[in-house]
Amino acid sequence: MTDSATLDRLAERLRSAHAVTVMTGAGISAESGVPTFRGTGGLWRSYSATDLATPEAFVRDPRLVWQWYRWRRGIIGGAEPNPGHLVLARLEARMPAFTLITQNVDGLHQRAGSTHVVELHGNIWRARCVRGCGVVRDAAGEAPGDGPAGEQDPVPVCSCGALMRPDVVWFGEALDQSRIDLAVQAAKGCQVFMAIGTSALVYPAAGLPLVAANAGAVVVEINVDSTPLTPHAGLVLKAKAAEVLPALESRL
Ligand code: APR
Repeated sequence: MTDSATLDRLAERLRSAHAVTVMTGAGISAESGVPTFRGTGGLWRSYSATDLATPEAFVRDPRLVWQWYRWRRGIIGGAEPNPGHLVLARLEARMPAFTLITQNVDGLHQRAGSTHVVELHGNIWRARCVRGCGVVRDAAGEAPGDGPAGEQDPVPVCSCGALMRPDVVWFGEALDQSRIDLAVQAAKGCQVFMAIGTSALVYPAAGLPLVAANAGAVVVEINVDSTPLTPHAGLVLKAKAAEVLPALESRL
């Protein structure tokens, strides 16, 4: 099937759907200039996940971990939502029931106008106390004076005295159960499930399209490459999200 025929079929499915669930990964933000994790130019090609994105890495070298997250925040802070994010925000507004699940921590969906976003892997703009005192805005954790005077790249400290950490899910950590529950419910209850820009390798997120398929939804993959999900998807659009989503919207 050509992309155009697939888009027509998908538009038809969306028009008749009551509930639509979308799950995004790093690929949706690629055209905003935010690096993905895997594939050409992916972060895990140049950096070691075990040095930067595990609880052990933070215990070993919290300053290095914070440096890396500050660097990423610099890139994300200079990025803008792209047409793919914007179409998803408008889809939310026009569908009777719409859930946007994202593995991304960049906050670009919210900046595009999406309001109901299930952030499975947290958000890079927040920091939280390692001791569990509750979430605080990252900006507070970054305020001058939080590190010893004059210190370069200070590690933010909570008012309780414990270190602050980025409020993201690291390898080896459990996801927030209430977010998983919301995501599973949305996967089970939709007629169309779109997996956009994810390598479909990291669980539990990678299992959600299969949950949706087992519950009878048509699973749609939008990705520039094939993934382990591709053979299970009912409709496949091998294309850039920021290009194909506007083409889809124009058919609705
Ligand atoms: N449009 C659509 N898909 C794209 C685009 C694009 N413009 N550019 C890249 N892709 C696809 C790639 O082909 C790849 O399959 O996006 C996917 C990105 O995969 P990953 O980098 O593995 O990102 P993701 O699936 O979100 O990773 C999951 O792993 O380390 C982590 O916690 C991190 O949330 C992340 C998780």
